Amino acid sequence: MALTAYDFTGRTAFVTGAASGIGRATATLLAQAGATVHCADRDEPGLHETAKLVSEQGGTAHTHVLDVTDHASLAAAVAAVTAAGPLHTMVAVAGIMHTSTVLETRDEDLDRVLAVNFKGVLYACQEAARSMIATGTRGSIVTMASGAMDTASPGLLCYSVTKAAVVQLTKTLATEVGQHGIRVNAIAPGWIRTPMTDRHEPAAQEQAEAAMARRSPLGRVGEPQDIAHAVLHLASDAAAFTTGQILRPNGGVAMPW
Ligand code: NAI
Repeated sequence: MALTAYDFTGRTAFVTGAASGIGRATATLLAQAGATVHCADRDEPGLHETAKLVSEQGGTAHTHVLDVTDHASLAAAVAAVTAAGPLHTMVAVAGIMHTSTVLETRDEDLDRVLAVNFKGVLYACQEAARSMIATGTRGSIVTMASGAMDTASPGLLCYSVTKAAVVQLTKTLATEVGQHGIRVNAIAPGWIRTPMTDRHEPAAQEQAEAAMARRSPLGRVGEPQDIAHAVLHLASDAAAFTTGQILRPNGGVAMPW
């Protein structure tokens, strides 16, 4: 049997948060698998760096400088992609971290994190699903939740609430668009080494990573490629019977039933 399920040749993918970390690794891996990738982010230099990496590996990338909290911009970018051909894959990765205790959390903190981590994902999902339905494409949408979605840690209220909301969005949308052959799944990564988790002085960072690695049966933290491969699987035909699910590439740090 030929291993064609992971062949994205002739397919188009849209990745938000593609200028850094997990989004960049995902865009480059999808391109390696044969997809034409549309990379969206508010960080223009970072986007161009991702596009350069893709083209150095022989792939095709287009860039869209936008803020995912601006629904009109996201809608315009997806509409432009759809005008050129069907959109097969949406990966909503863009997100921000915020830490404050419950007692210190201000309205504006919660509003900002909700806008990026939840509404930004909602808009990407809405526009992708509308595009796929309009073109009759049996596509795949992958959202980025977090292990924080169902654990409690001091200071992580805003972040974890938005990630739990992403899970509900993912499952609800899966129930609504399955009739069109569209699959919707989420990934809940553990600690992945990216600029988002690089929040400490070098010595403290090393200690924090080592502490996290000790919690994993595999004895390490994750790399962006670990998550990119999980996205590739969920977006691919190999996951044709998988929808409304949460995949947890976390090194075994948490093992919910
Ligand atoms: P990162 O900070 O390296 O990348 C995030 C990207 O999102 C950046 O390129 C940033 O410019 C972009 N972005 C942020 N706000 C945006 C906005 N309003 N509009 C457009 N682009 C925006 O972070 P990383 O680690 O790659 O995280 C990616 C996703 O994975 C996030 O949703 C994060 O919550 C999630 N995640 C990360 C984990 C980790 O350990 N690194 C663990 C679990 C989840």
